[in-house]
Amino acid sequence: MTSLALWRDRRGRTSWLRIAALALLAWPAALAAGTAASVGLGPRPWNDLIHRTGWWALVFLLLSLAITPLRRAGHWAKLIDVRRMIGVGAFAYGAAHLALYVVDEKLDLVKVASEIVSRLYLTIGFVALLGVTALAITSNDAMVKRLGGLRWRQLHQVTYALGVLALVHFFQQTKADVSVPTLYAGLFVWLIGYRIVARLNGEGELGTGALALLAIVSGALTLVGEAIGIGLAFGVPPLMILAAAFDPDLGIRPGWYVLAAGLAVTLLNVVRGWMTRRRADRTPAWGGAARPMSPLAKGTLLP
Ligand code: HEM
Repeated sequence: MTSLALWRDRRGRTSWLRIAALALLAWPAALAAGTAASVGLGPRPWNDLIHRTGWWALVFLLLSLAITPLRRAGHWAKLIDVRRMIGVGAFAYGAAHLALYVVDEKLDLVKVASEIVSRLYLTIGFVALLGVTALAITSNDAMVKRLGGLRWRQLHQVTYALGVLALVHFFQQTKADVSVPTLYAGLFVWLIGYRIVARLNGEGELGTGALALLAIVSGALTLVGEAIGIGLAFGVPPLMILAAAFDPDLGIRPGWYVLAAGLAVTLLNVVRGWMTRRRADRTPAWGGAARPMSPLAKGTLLP
């Protein structure tokens, strides 16, 4: 049976990593509650909460995808312990998002259903939520055992498609400035790119060169994608918008943040690799355990 003591690891020990993950998952809800109690949530409080929960559902979905690259680049195997937790957090915020939408529609379930069917962005959001729900239901030890590791991993690759749907939903409901959805789309490109390169590499770790290249390609694709998108939407030549992305006076475009995030992971990989090598150099050849006594010292060869 899955233990409800979520702050304990598999061996039943208190895990600070798990406690930090739980705090991170609870933080957006606490922040919303604090804002509601102090300054209030604005003229449309339910809508404000719909936006907050949708945003966090997407953030946690992307964060769950970021665990594998961060674990490898940061040489931090234990990070895998909180991946499922963060994925289930994405589901919890997604479910709250839908529930708040139902409340905002005065609990009129017939209206909610007809809106979901007739508005494409809601249909896409709903399909994404169904997928995230299926992943959350299968995210326990019993289901992993029942499905088998390979089938479980194959099923959970659906997360990539759900990420695409959630991003499309985000873009569609954004009325004016699409910078934030573009930033998330760029980060998603990096996350998918990481997996593609890892697969081409026989699921091996990505070296510093490959990580740096991935950062540059993802950043460039984000800049170009944004220029094409804005160009098509406003009838402006995309090259003109792309050129503007290199003018710091006009603000920093999402592509640069994607590049910076990718390079930060590259730097993490360099630093952690260096630390691991230094530790290995310092560790005695016998692994730091009690030095095996030489037969000479034991006195066996002594008269
Ligand atoms: C896992 C599934 C989902 C994710 C990740 C998601 C994500 C998002 C995001 C990121 C936003 C924008 C937040 C912001 O502007 O800061 C949003 C807005 C919204 N979503 Fe979702 N969503 C999901 C499912 C749904 C579902 C099932 C519904 C309802 C049927 C829904 C209804 C809405 C509505 C009404 C808005 C606000 C639109 C507006 O005010 O114009 N979403 N969602």
